[in-house]
Amino acid sequence: MILDPAVAEYVTGLEPEPDDLLAEMRARGDREGIPIVHHVTGGLLEVLAAATGALRAVEVGTAIGVSTLHLARGGAHVTSFEVDPERHAAASDYLRRAGLADRVDLRLQDAGEGLAELETGGFDLGFIDGPKDGYPGHLGQVVALLRPGGLLLVDNVLMSGAVATRQPTGPWSAEHIAAMREFSERLRQREDLRATFTPVGDGVALAVRQ
Ligand SMILES: C[S@@+](CC[C@H](N)C(=O)[O-])C[C@H]1O[C@@H](n2cnc3c(N)ncnc32)[C@H](O)[C@@H]1O
Repeated sequence: MILDPAVAEYVTGLEPEPDDLLAEMRARGDREGIPIVHHVTGGLLEVLAAATGALRAVEVGTAIGVSTLHLARGGAHVTSFEVDPERHAAASDYLRRAGLADRVDLRLQDAGEGLAELETGGFDLGFIDGPKDGYPGHLGQVVALLRPGGLLLVDNVLMSGAVATRQPTGPWSAEHIAAMREFSERLRQREDLRATFTPVGDGVALAVRQ
């Protein structure tokens, strides 16, 4: 969380209580050090998927399926990419247990390769949350998959606030910060997008395809 701790605790506490499955997934993420979306970011994904009526979503970075679960619970069918076989298998198992196996297409594949195989303009929502050094390449690919009016979401654009303060912290080095600042500058300057940046969770950029 990049907000004042009391504010962060308050807004997190306003999220619905997780069901047993989501609680189990989050606990596994914590235990095994798997980076998954903040609780409020999960809530944002779910609400935006539902509010936009997104039927088809594409995601870079499945991990164990927490963000995928939120998007699917928001009503979208989610195509998601992950390169770690254990995480991919765990996500498949959790989504099956959630009763959402038919709402997801979980691919054990490099996102750059997999995105190139999908239908241009065929998606209502894109979520980028994969390797940070892949963000620039994945941005162009995911935007190309969105229909006009489609919604792009990008996680970690503030990197615990370090992107704004330029002070390296935790896993975020000076190189990470510089790369993310350059990425966000590119994102906001794209003429085919109207982007806005929010301090939700670890910083989420939202953009609509023109
Ligand atoms: C931040 S985690 C994703 C978290 C997930 N979106 C969530 O919130 O539940 C990023 C994931 O991207 C995966 N990854 C790394 N390189 C990748 C690539 N080239 N293609 C697809 N996924 C990749 C990592 O293994 C990692 O599990």
